[in-house]
Amino acid sequence: MANWSPTSWQQKTAKQQASYPNDEALQSVLSSLESMPGLVSYEETQQLQSELARVCRGDAFLIQGGDCAETFDHFSEKNVTSTFKVILQMAIVLTQAARKPIVKVGRIAGQFAKPRSSDTETRNGITLPSYRGDLINGIEFNEQARMPCPTRLQRAYFQAAATTNLLRALSSSGTASLSNVHSWNKGFIERSSIADRYKTIADQVTSSLDFMKACGGLASHAVQQINFFTSHEGLHLPYEQALLRQSDDAWYASSGHLLWIGDRTRQLDGAHIEFFRGVSNPIALKVGPSMAPSELVEIINILNPNNLPGRLTLITRFGADNIDDKLPRLIQAVKASGQQVIWVTDPMHGNTHTATNGLKTRSFDRILSELRSFMSIHAAQGTHAGGVHLEMTGMDVTECLGGLHNLTETDLLQRYDTACDPRLNADQVLEMAFILADELCD
Ligand code: PEP
Ligand code: CO
Repeated sequence: MANWSPTSWQQKTAKQQASYPNDEALQSVLSSLESMPGLVSYEETQQLQSELARVCRGDAFLIQGGDCAETFDHFSEKNVTSTFKVILQMAIVLTQAARKPIVKVGRIAGQFAKPRSSDTETRNGITLPSYRGDLINGIEFNEQARMPCPTRLQRAYFQAAATTNLLRALSSSGTASLSNVHSWNKGFIERSSIADRYKTIADQVTSSLDFMKACGGLASHAVQQINFFTSHEGLHLPYEQALLRQSDDAWYASSGHLLWIGDRTRQLDGAHIEFFRGVSNPIALKVGPSMAPSELVEIINILNPNNLPGRLTLITRFGADNIDDKLPRLIQAVKASGQQVIWVTDPMHGNTHTATNGLKTRSFDRILSELRSFMSIHAAQGTHAGGVHLEMTGMDVTECLGGLHNLTETDLLQRYDTACDPRLNADQVLEMAFILADELCD
């Protein structure tokens, strides 16, 4: 990789970075992280890359989902397990419909840093630095909490390590086994019509397994364990640099399997593009309404110069009202350049609004509308709709409006737990999966 080094990004402008009051304290934490074990291995990142290459060819479909921002306070086995199980439920619904393998990636085990629209926040005449995620500062509105604190990097690293450990155990030791397909359902959706639809699929899976067993043949490994990958926004470059590791001649980010560049940090000549062009993990790029087709083609050339399938995923997030205008032109430009990319929709980030009670929310119908447009635009362009990127949780939160239970603005007050953007709850996610399954069957 010409003129690239782990520190070459430092010669460029890095947007959305924290300003630490004490550089010595920061450097000391970073050097301790440099000597710690990576959270993921090079081989795992390459396994994901090869699974994504199948997505790129249209032979598999990607689900990427999890919290907008993980936090120290909401970290629990229950939280991680419930997100994991809902992703498995979505995957089984979509596998049945699409008859393709589903690549499963959590926004998890490292999703701690947030880009913000403003550097400061003002409440009642007091102005403080904005909350940038638990990796950097605290959400409480006081001077001490909002001051960036380097020891948070260590705490986030250890939390990500514990989360990765749990996900590995869940993936390989029975929970993810297809024979447990019924147990992935959550208590609070047991009695809904969505649960009935899910149960029908789970029954079919169980009887297929019984049939295979009766025939005497069942590749047990394929049924008993899965690959589940971690991902987060690669925003905090000093942290990501400290967790770079070398394998053979390749540098890879050991903080997670898939890292993405956010829509606010994707400047052509910026530090994030510089850093990630030299990182060998599969990477993703958020693409918002301000992206010009020629700019996108240039960025892809920098991030994937060898045109490897699976190396680069484009996560588009325009908003339901913008996608019809923006996406076709980008697809045409990328097609014309011969670049191999995966197209994924993030129907969340362009569809956020403020409810009358001041809470940030999203409506199920608008999310669905962007998702449907994404599917039909790709069908019309002859390209593969590669996957979906959702802010979601397995918990029974009330953060997004609508869905089968028709959550209203008043309902939002019941369990609004997000530290950043509103997430689909388990019920809304499964409902979305069934609708998407119908689209994939068409
Ligand atoms: C996010 O995914 O949480 C995010 C900040 O997205 P974007 O970069 O697309 O705004
Ligand atoms: Co978000």
